[in-house]
Amino acid sequence: VISPPPAWEDIQGLVASAYAHLDAAAYVLLRIDDARATRAWLGKNAARMTTAAERPGIEELANFRKRGTANVNVAFSFSGLQALLHPLGLAECDSFQRPFVEGISGSEHRRRILGDTGASCPQGWDWGGGNERRVDVLLTVFATEASAVDSTANAILAESGMTVVKKLDALSRMLANDREHFGFVDGISQPILKGTPAAERARDSRHLTELGEFVLGYLDEEKQPTSGPALDGFPAFGRNGSYLVFRQLRQDVKAFWDFVDAQTRTAVGALDSAAAENLAEKMVGRCRDGTPLVPDVSVDNNEFDFKNDRYGFGCPLGSHVRRANPRRSIALARTPEDKPNRHRVLRRTRLYGRKPADLRSDDGEERGLLFLVLNANIERQFEFVNQNWINNSGFAGVQDERDPLVGRRDDGPNLFSVQGGPARVRKGPLEEFVTVKGGEYFFLPGIAALKYLASPNGRAS
Ligand code: HEM
Repeated sequence: VISPPPAWEDIQGLVASAYAHLDAAAYVLLRIDDARATRAWLGKNAARMTTAAERPGIEELANFRKRGTANVNVAFSFSGLQALLHPLGLAECDSFQRPFVEGISGSEHRRRILGDTGASCPQGWDWGGGNERRVDVLLTVFATEASAVDSTANAILAESGMTVVKKLDALSRMLANDREHFGFVDGISQPILKGTPAAERARDSRHLTELGEFVLGYLDEEKQPTSGPALDGFPAFGRNGSYLVFRQLRQDVKAFWDFVDAQTRTAVGALDSAAAENLAEKMVGRCRDGTPLVPDVSVDNNEFDFKNDRYGFGCPLGSHVRRANPRRSIALARTPEDKPNRHRVLRRTRLYGRKPADLRSDDGEERGLLFLVLNANIERQFEFVNQNWINNSGFAGVQDERDPLVGRRDDGPNLFSVQGGPARVRKGPLEEFVTVKGGEYFFLPGIAALKYLASPNGRAS
């Protein structure tokens, strides 16, 4: 069975590109006030959305930058779709995935598996999670500089029938230097989409993943077609769409470095900065410059698994990267039929807030990650990773531990083990270095589906 050829011109650009050539970005969270006006707006702007076909080749990047092009994409929460399509029939609702219909904080179970408890509880969020914090639409805008992002957003949103709930400005990638706020290179490990030029260049990569794991209407890793949501008036509504998870994750940089400092003091209480650095790297699971911690890694810094590091002596069993993607060491051991690339997410994350001048002092500024991922199945991918790996206190045989960066902290002893000879060293209790400030599940439709939303069932508005 082979997957249909990707219809890149109908797939929104975020799927194929993180727009890394565009330094500035904003994520605009919107509420629909006047559905009729929003449908008319979509009618005018559906074709304005950047598609995956417009992705510039490496050789075209310089020109692309010079043109000052702004890339725009749009996604909808379930309440947003309800507002535009109202009323959705029961069967139509059922054809969307349950987590999307319920919303990111729609059940206690979901809040628990995502760690949206304690300080990350949705009641304390700035946006998202339904009720008075409801968000219907997410507009993403990428451009060469912040002024172009703002002018594009303002021009596009004129007469949209929507009001801005929150505009989250991402930090310029130039300033971010591709390091997240704790000081680590981020964005290294990504699935490589089959059918793309990148896949041609990396034919033997373990990261090659079927398009259907991220885009609906294609074969997934099980060679099964991913079926998308169907609407009565447009059965192919889901085709070329993707589920989008967006979370605002606040980072307490000083708390993180204070913790590693305190845990690595010498017997006489002196700071040991080399040991502190080492512990921080063990918690993340990579060196600060992105070098893997597993032994015997080839020249490529991402083509490894944990076969040579079964006991976690290099990259600790409970570290962030090992939990986020155990690369066969866990998934296959538990369920023989499982495949590691069945639980991947495409990360399209950027930073917000200024880079800290000093990792160990509190400048009172808020900063963190604008965590955005795409997947074809929220339960099997984003939620599975959180429930079974990140927030699993018994992950890979460890005990009383959760992800040292982002795991929930409101119950359990929350320790972190650094495996090694002659015995493991246990650190903790861990503190809350990352708290959730907002979040929602969205659907990123294909362009044809956007056009349908503009005039559902042929009703112009
Ligand atoms: C503020 C919060 C977070 C920080 C600072 C952070 C930081 C990092 C860093 C430094 C890496 C290693 C570089 C790389 O491989 O790209 C990484 C990898 C990764 N993170 Fe996070 N992360 C955060 C939250 C999350 C969350 C909530 C998830 C949930 C799904 C996640 C999933 C991943 C994945 C899938 C990888 C790649 C693992 C691999 O394939 O090896 N991260 N993260």
